[in-house]
Amino acid sequence: MPVHCRYSRGTDQHRLNRRLLQQHCNSLLYLLGHTTATVSVVFIDDHEMAAYNLQYRNKQGPTNVLSFPVDTDNRDGFLYPEDELGDILIAVDTARREAMEQKSGLHHRLTELIVHGMLHLIGYDHERSESEAEHMQHYEQQLFQQIQTTRSSPMPFLAINVDHVATIRQARGGVEPDPVLAASLCELAGADGIVVHLREDRRHILDRDVRLLRQTVKTRLNLEMANTPEIIDLALEVKPDMITLVPEKREELTTEGGLDVPAHAKNIAKTIARMQAAGIPVSIFIDPDATQAQAALDVGATYVELHTGNYCEARTMEEQEQQYTLIEQVSELAYELGLKVNAGHGLDYRNVHPIAALPFIDELSIGHAVISRAVLVGLENAVREMLTIVRSV
Ligand code: PXP
Repeated sequence: MPVHCRYSRGTDQHRLNRRLLQQHCNSLLYLLGHTTATVSVVFIDDHEMAAYNLQYRNKQGPTNVLSFPVDTDNRDGFLYPEDELGDILIAVDTARREAMEQKSGLHHRLTELIVHGMLHLIGYDHERSESEAEHMQHYEQQLFQQIQTTRSSPMPFLAINVDHVATIRQARGGVEPDPVLAASLCELAGADGIVVHLREDRRHILDRDVRLLRQTVKTRLNLEMANTPEIIDLALEVKPDMITLVPEKREELTTEGGLDVPAHAKNIAKTIARMQAAGIPVSIFIDPDATQAQAALDVGATYVELHTGNYCEARTMEEQEQQYTLIEQVSELAYELGLKVNAGHGLDYRNVHPIAALPFIDELSIGHAVISRAVLVGLENAVREMLTIVRSV
């Protein structure tokens, strides 16, 4: 491994995604064309950084990053590997403070500091001249963008919501099309999970569907539900692989907005405790909001599902970027808190890519776009099959 990342004990309190940081370091070396070089990146606390800052720069207090390039002219009698670039020290406490000031995530800031430190190792120095400082800053931003958009961690899982297959069935009140069969086809196509929302008014998914899906789903069955006694009892009886608590109003067309966790904390905590006793992990559908993520942790949730509806419905690029930044920040925060993070609502073939690229998101839950596309891409075949019968008479 060309980059050796190490972590001092003092950084244990921060929930660092070591795999992600390692991948960012590797991607950076690749982008810089130093694929055979070795670099050591050490993550330390402020206390340790202050000691190094005093020893090597005669400065009091911690700084965010220090780079120590290998001095190729004066190797102190040591034998360094041919392509050794040097060491980078990064103060995680300082990085977290800076992340909060710039309203970004800790891993976002750490990645910026890795880029900054690495450019110093290969000879860039912003203190030499203003023009070099400007050039270095510009290059840093460019590299950071490239690292962020080159997803190197495993892809997120894709769970398909088959509610709208049931919506078509209920339009005639018959048995076709069957969401249970649709779920099997989704799994055959590679879906990682199946989601259904059992609504209080049973407008699409029925109790029978949930019971059958429990028997037929081979991946993971995620039951979306309101926190109401009748549905809770059914979930405890059927035991899906997980449940997602959502707000539910009878008059709404689809789920509108996330659950307000602090406002319903007591009831949610009670339900989570019952689900946990039955071995069912609980996710809470929340708006991308730090307070909601913290409250979800406090009531004992295992997952949060971040509501992507506002991002998907944004009317302008600016608004979409704002909504995207919220999802990015809160997904990272929720991960750091120790929650698993899913996302969904309104995602389609055009807007899903940036969300799928976010490294802290475990699973995407997508329904309407996939079922709508299936209707259109399947229509030609359906007509041909009918024509074959009609013309064979
Ligand atoms: N996640 C939750 C919590 C939902 O309520 C829904 C809609 O049922 C989805 C994801 C899927 O949204 P869409 O059908 O827009 O893909």
